[in-house]
Amino acid sequence: MRSVSLTAAGILFAGLLAAPAAAAERESEVTFNKHVAPILQRSCENCHRPQGAAPMPLVSYEDVRPWARAIRNRTGAREMPPWFIDKNIGIQRFKDDPSLSDEEIATIAAWVDNGAPRGNPADLPPPLEWPADGWTYGTPDVVVPSPEGIVEADAADWFGEWGETPTGLNTDRYIKAIEVKEVRLEEGPQIKVDDTGRADLSLFVVHHAVITSDAPQNVVAPLDCGNETSCGGHDGQLRLTYELGQNPTIFPDEMGVKLPAGSVLTFNSMHLHSIGREVRARVDVGLTLHPEGYEPRYMQSNTGFRRSTQYDYEFDIPSNDDNVMRDGFHRITKPTKMLMFEPHLHSSGKRMCVEAIYPNNVREMLSCSNYDHNWVKVYTYEDDVAPLLPTGTLIHVMAWYDNSPTNKNVVDPRNWKGWGNRSIDDMFVSITRTIEMTEEEFQAEVAARGGTPAFATSQDQQ
Ligand code: HEC
Repeated sequence: MRSVSLTAAGILFAGLLAAPAAAAERESEVTFNKHVAPILQRSCENCHRPQGAAPMPLVSYEDVRPWARAIRNRTGAREMPPWFIDKNIGIQRFKDDPSLSDEEIATIAAWVDNGAPRGNPADLPPPLEWPADGWTYGTPDVVVPSPEGIVEADAADWFGEWGETPTGLNTDRYIKAIEVKEVRLEEGPQIKVDDTGRADLSLFVVHHAVITSDAPQNVVAPLDCGNETSCGGHDGQLRLTYELGQNPTIFPDEMGVKLPAGSVLTFNSMHLHSIGREVRARVDVGLTLHPEGYEPRYMQSNTGFRRSTQYDYEFDIPSNDDNVMRDGFHRITKPTKMLMFEPHLHSSGKRMCVEAIYPNNVREMLSCSNYDHNWVKVYTYEDDVAPLLPTGTLIHVMAWYDNSPTNKNVVDPRNWKGWGNRSIDDMFVSITRTIEMTEEEFQAEVAARGGTPAFATSQDQQ
């Protein structure tokens, strides 16, 4: 009797203990509402929402649940969100960086492996408000559409001019950010994903467009790319190389990129790629402007390390070959701040790194990123880590190419590749934007960052 009642008491006691333990377990459980939804809001929704660039929304639990395993796999492989900066080398702080931390990837995996529970409705963060029409940086102040073009169902890669469109602005203005998106003008699904669920080079038909702004009387003048440091007309002129899958380009507030009154946007060097059905398309340029009266502290100086990445007719990527490497150098001739890193390769491109060799021979790897020709990303440094490059610095740009069947973007790896405009040719260009400064301005910025920089400054060289 006694022993029975003791046992009963024991069971009761154990039950009392188990109750708080279960509650604690429930509380530490990874749920959609509490842990996963905030990650998706920050890093995925800008594309995975109605009107976004991605094929399916990932907003509500109902949207997300069927994709749980695919989400675990694509985030674990760092394929989603598309952002390819090497996390182990170089500068790590960028504007609008959507990439996931190792902890966030582990949180998603734990959630999926635990049956993808929904969780407590009270934990769900309020929904995000997105700008209309699929824009991600905000609703632009001005949208300038390109003329329309037709991409035939089955044609060779095409490149040429698409003409120009007036901005409609009647005062001088400066650009704060620019976002470009391809707009399909036919009905039906905008994105083709092949049977394996993987994209090939069919996501976009416009692979490339050089978008420049100028006063109407200058539009016919050919682009001046002959100057050693600047390509594209003159300092402060908009020159954007739009590439497929590109994120918005955000200009630092201190740097002016001008849209003159009455200016016209010109759509040059369009590269078009057929995707198996006829497509009518244009690109829309969304411009976010500084308020009227804004005066920049500096003008944009140039948009590339031209000397390292000249048009390169010795370019040689053998068929069926991986890890083909190409490099080049560019000498900095004035104190310079480098604002962005943007590898511009084509379909066999795999990785790019940019390194500074300072005048005192100290080398610093500034940035490395992998490359996927569906997603050509602009990596804009946070203001206080944008590299300061004294006069005499050598910029060393390196790129690697995979022209073998392991690269899903290569259409036919049996082909040799040289330099060319087609996506099935290749390129070796490091696009950036820089500010050239006086020695005093440069020294002031070095001092404002505090501490001794890793390099000998221009003044030390004199
Ligand atoms: C810049 C736009 C963009 C962002 C940001 C983005 N995606 Fe995607 N995602 C796409 C596009 C476009 C596709 C379809 C092409 C493909 O599969 O690569 C896709 C495909 C996917 C797929 C595969 C669907 C399938 O058919 O198997 C998954 C899963 C996915 N995304 C999850 C995510 C998650 C999770 C995030 C955030 C952590 C994210 N994506 C961020 C654009 C984006």
